[in-house]
Amino acid sequence: MVSFGIFSLSVCLNHILCNDFCVADLSPSAPRVNGFPCKDRANVTSKDFLFTDFRTAGNVSVTGTNAYPSFGTVLEYPALNTLGITHVRLDFGIGGVVPPHTHPFASETLFVVKGSIYTGFISFDGVLYAETLQQGDIYIFPKGTLHFQINVGTGPAISFNSLNSQAPGFLVAANQLLLSNIPAAVLESSLGISKAKDLNLLEASVPPFWG
Ligand SMILES: *[C@@H]1O[C@H](CO)[C@@H](O)[C@H](O)[C@H]1NC(C)=O
Ligand SMILES: *[C@@H]1O[C@H](CO)[C@@H](O)[C@H](O)[C@H]1NC(C)=O
Repeated sequence: MVSFGIFSLSVCLNHILCNDFCVADLSPSAPRVNGFPCKDRANVTSKDFLFTDFRTAGNVSVTGTNAYPSFGTVLEYPALNTLGITHVRLDFGIGGVVPPHTHPFASETLFVVKGSIYTGFISFDGVLYAETLQQGDIYIFPKGTLHFQINVGTGPAISFNSLNSQAPGFLVAANQLLLSNIPAAVLESSLGISKAKDLNLLEASVPPFWG
């Protein structure tokens, strides 16, 4: 409702003109669109805008790299629908790594909540930009750049990350290269390795979680 003095204009009549939010209707019976349709506005409450999953640390033991990404995408946090934001909580054990990866549709900031993280990205002209961050620091990974994180502190580390898309995409470089059925001849030539000696070993050693 928008009020103009004594007049009251119901701009949300029939929900046609409201685009301030569109809490996703994730139900399988909802129509398929590029994104998610809006939950019936009459059924939206303040709880829809609250996200509490990040109260709990991710289990770093399950990934094979001693780090765990907990996602707050539109799937976990339907109020993000159409608003162009995704959040991630990263938990790291000592030495924990988030493998080199890209988000083709979003830039990302990483805020260190706890610990010390070495992180960086490779620019489109092949330069590594990287820093060791302390608690309270922020780093940014420009859209589409390959980036990674490693916990270089003496205890666990936590970061809170934000991406400017509700569907940023998440492509792990090792998996794309080694687990996507690219013909061996292509990889042998591209990497200068032999299938029997090197490629089988590499393919078998990619941590399964990230695949
Ligand atoms: C909205 O809430 C009402 C009352 O709880 C329920 O009957 C109706 O199915 C809900 N609509 C949707 C689209 O979820
Ligand atoms: C974390 O994962 C490991 C390996 O799957 C499991 O043994 C352990 O119980 C899990 N810890 C918690 C707190 O869920």
